[in-house]
Amino acid sequence: MDTDARSHRYEALADEFAGLIDRRVLGPGDRLPSVRRLSHEKRLSVSTVLQALRTLEERGLVEARPQSGFFVRRRPLARAVPEPRRPPARATKVDISQRLVNVLQLNARAGIVPLGAALPDTALLPVAAIQRLYATVARQQPNLLRSGSHTDMNEVALLRQLVRRSMSWGGPLDTDEIVVTNSCTEAMFLCLRAVTRPGDTIAVESPGYYLMLQLIESLGLKALEIPTDPRRGISIDALDLATRDGREGKVKACLLVANASNPLGTTLSDADKKRLARLLESRGVPLIEDDIYGDLHFGERRPWPVKAFDRSGNVMLCASFSKSITPALRVGFVAAGRHHAEVMRQKTLASGATNPISQNVLARYLESGAYDRSLRTLRRAYREQVERMSDAVSRHFPEGTRITRPQGGLVLWLELPGQVDTNALFERAAEENIAFVPGDLFSPSGLYRNCLRLNCGNPWTPAIEAGVRRLGELAAELPEA
Ligand SMILES: Cc1ncc(COP(=O)(O)O)c(C=O)c1O
Repeated sequence: MDTDARSHRYEALADEFAGLIDRRVLGPGDRLPSVRRLSHEKRLSVSTVLQALRTLEERGLVEARPQSGFFVRRRPLARAVPEPRRPPARATKVDISQRLVNVLQLNARAGIVPLGAALPDTALLPVAAIQRLYATVARQQPNLLRSGSHTDMNEVALLRQLVRRSMSWGGPLDTDEIVVTNSCTEAMFLCLRAVTRPGDTIAVESPGYYLMLQLIESLGLKALEIPTDPRRGISIDALDLATRDGREGKVKACLLVANASNPLGTTLSDADKKRLARLLESRGVPLIEDDIYGDLHFGERRPWPVKAFDRSGNVMLCASFSKSITPALRVGFVAAGRHHAEVMRQKTLASGATNPISQNVLARYLESGAYDRSLRTLRRAYREQVERMSDAVSRHFPEGTRITRPQGGLVLWLELPGQVDTNALFERAAEENIAFVPGDLFSPSGLYRNCLRLNCGNPWTPAIEAGVRRLGELAAELPEA
């Protein structure tokens, strides 16, 4: 039997039992049928049944008792969520770039357990379809090779798709406010360039995404960390305080991820999004919103971005398809509202047009309906991988380790017990070919030294399980700082 069919079978059996446990048909302490009986009744091999039971064990739902079989756990594995922290009230200079490069380079090493950069396994992505579209577009639209300089910035076919898609989250966007960019990072860079000057202060989540901090660093800006609750997201009250008139070092822009943030995985409630949009509008502080994970939510419906609550063009919505189609596409966009003209000027200065072939490939892919189908599979895969990672961390990391409960995306944030330093853990893990991102890189003030982020973008394998187990052992050996 091929590996796919086999993994499908044991996963289906594991899911069946997970459902029975979830619905309390099987209660705490109940014994599961024996391996032999399951093998007979389900017409599966003994090894497939065993693998299903081990999967349930890994998920923390059942436990094996020697000589007796498998039983539903009496208590689910404890998984406390980290508490919010209080960052400094003053803006901080950012200095993370060099360390970040070292950390991310490790992720690219051959044979590494890839828990570092937030990247999906290409096996999950529609790479073959994109490959075919490149050939088709280059053949059918040869004129594209003659266009695209510093003037024709946006391909109309792509604009149409972006506007259409925005209808599912409170849009429509206005075609005239969009600038197509080289990825989401460039979109955020252009927005910052458009509304700030060196020395200005930018409000960010704490912990916040390291590439945002790196952009702030490279533009000579300062970051003001706003307390962020791992369950509810950025504190609007704290942002209110920080943006009051007369505050020293006035906040010139706010840069955040409202849907499935990175690293916490938190999604702001609609009420908070609306409050945030109104607050920043009234203070004259532009919001640069990164919605790269909006399509990768774990809930029933696509969460709205803050942009959906924007009345005055104050929100600049940035996104790309790096986590949902392939990072290699390098096509993103910003819907810049009233800042459109300045963002467009910055785009012309920074890089000229984004590759027109790639823009058309993306447009055709979106148009075909394949994106929505692929998203359904991808969301399920990410959710399951995040769940498996949480279970593995619960089992293998020191007691007292806290874990987030992401509402989307592909990363998990951990807080280790005690005053340990995950930079030291990083060095040890690198020696054993295991990558992750130390918490330090998510805060310019170094607030999260005992935290770390794990990438869950890869399908679960014994190698990943072993890597997480080893990382947990190394974490238990860390000395108190
Ligand atoms: C929140 C967030 N924004 C942006 C990016 C990068 O996107 P792109 O590859 O489109 O620049 C990432 C990738 O990790 C991310 O997590």
